[in-house]
Amino acid sequence: MTARLQDKVALVTGGASGVGRAAVIQLAREGARVIVADIDREAGTALATEIGDAAMFVMLDVASQQAWQSAITEVEEHFGRLDVLVNNAGILRLGSIEEATLDEWRQVMSVNADSVFLGCQTALPLLKRQGGSIVNLSSVAALGGIDHYVAYSASKGAIAAMTRTIATHCRRQKYRIRCNSIHPDGILTPMSQRAYPPGVDPADYTIDADPMNRVCLPEDVAAAIVFLASDESRAINGIELRVDSGQFVMGI
Ligand SMILES: NC(=O)c1ccc[n+]([C@@H]2O[C@H](COP(=O)([O-])OP(=O)(O)OC[C@H]3O[C@@H](n4cnc5c(N)ncnc54)[C@H](O)[C@@H]3O)[C@@H](O)[C@H]2O)c1
Repeated sequence: MTARLQDKVALVTGGASGVGRAAVIQLAREGARVIVADIDREAGTALATEIGDAAMFVMLDVASQQAWQSAITEVEEHFGRLDVLVNNAGILRLGSIEEATLDEWRQVMSVNADSVFLGCQTALPLLKRQGGSIVNLSSVAALGGIDHYVAYSASKGAIAAMTRTIATHCRRQKYRIRCNSIHPDGILTPMSQRAYPPGVDPADYTIDADPMNRVCLPEDVAAAIVFLASDESRAINGIELRVDSGQFVMGI
């Protein structure tokens, strides 16, 4: 049986930790050659080494246009193609509309939203050659109203709107590039472990502990990424896929 991503080349931003790391592992397992793109050289290199020949680490600050241009040039020189772009890198900063500073807003928008704009724009010429799939990590924060995450929620909303726009553009231009966003609720990663209040451990709220809980594992989100990256989802374009165990429909 052919692997689901045989002969494909995939770049995963924020690939050194959490969801990105799980996606890198699952994409490689499904036959893809994977670029682990991150600012964390140590963890990214360690993961690429662990996977072996199918993986390569690339230093990439997703908020920098110049860094994107260098990374995509490196991908073209090394692999000669790009089939899948997973815009996963992100940061979380606490702060309501009354608390967040303009600097915090700009930092979050830059790492979470500018990054997706820059990544899609820079990778498009390579993706266009044979077609491909873009998967953007948004959040349920883009869909509901989470009072203490004003900048984060806005950045994730920007990703959802950008995703629909890019999907429409690529379809109209007949590029054979799909673009979808994933909207998780809580995921058991270093990001959520830093965000929970002292004394509260997200590990106590995983769907393993109770299927009705809201915190999933990075592997659950990675499975959705692999599906959207693969040709199995070839008719799925411009969607917002919630990975939240139904928490959103119950009210977040
Ligand atoms: N953890 C959650 O509960 C949760 C919920 C919904 C959505 N998400 C989204 O999922 C994605 C992955 O989150 P995670 O929980 O795995 O986070 P994480 O903090 O575990 O990992 C994020 C990775 O991004 C990298 N990164 C940060 N800034 C970067 C930059 N400027 N350039 C390149 N890489 C950078 C980090 O080095 C790290 O490897 C994010 O977009 C996040 O917003 C997370």
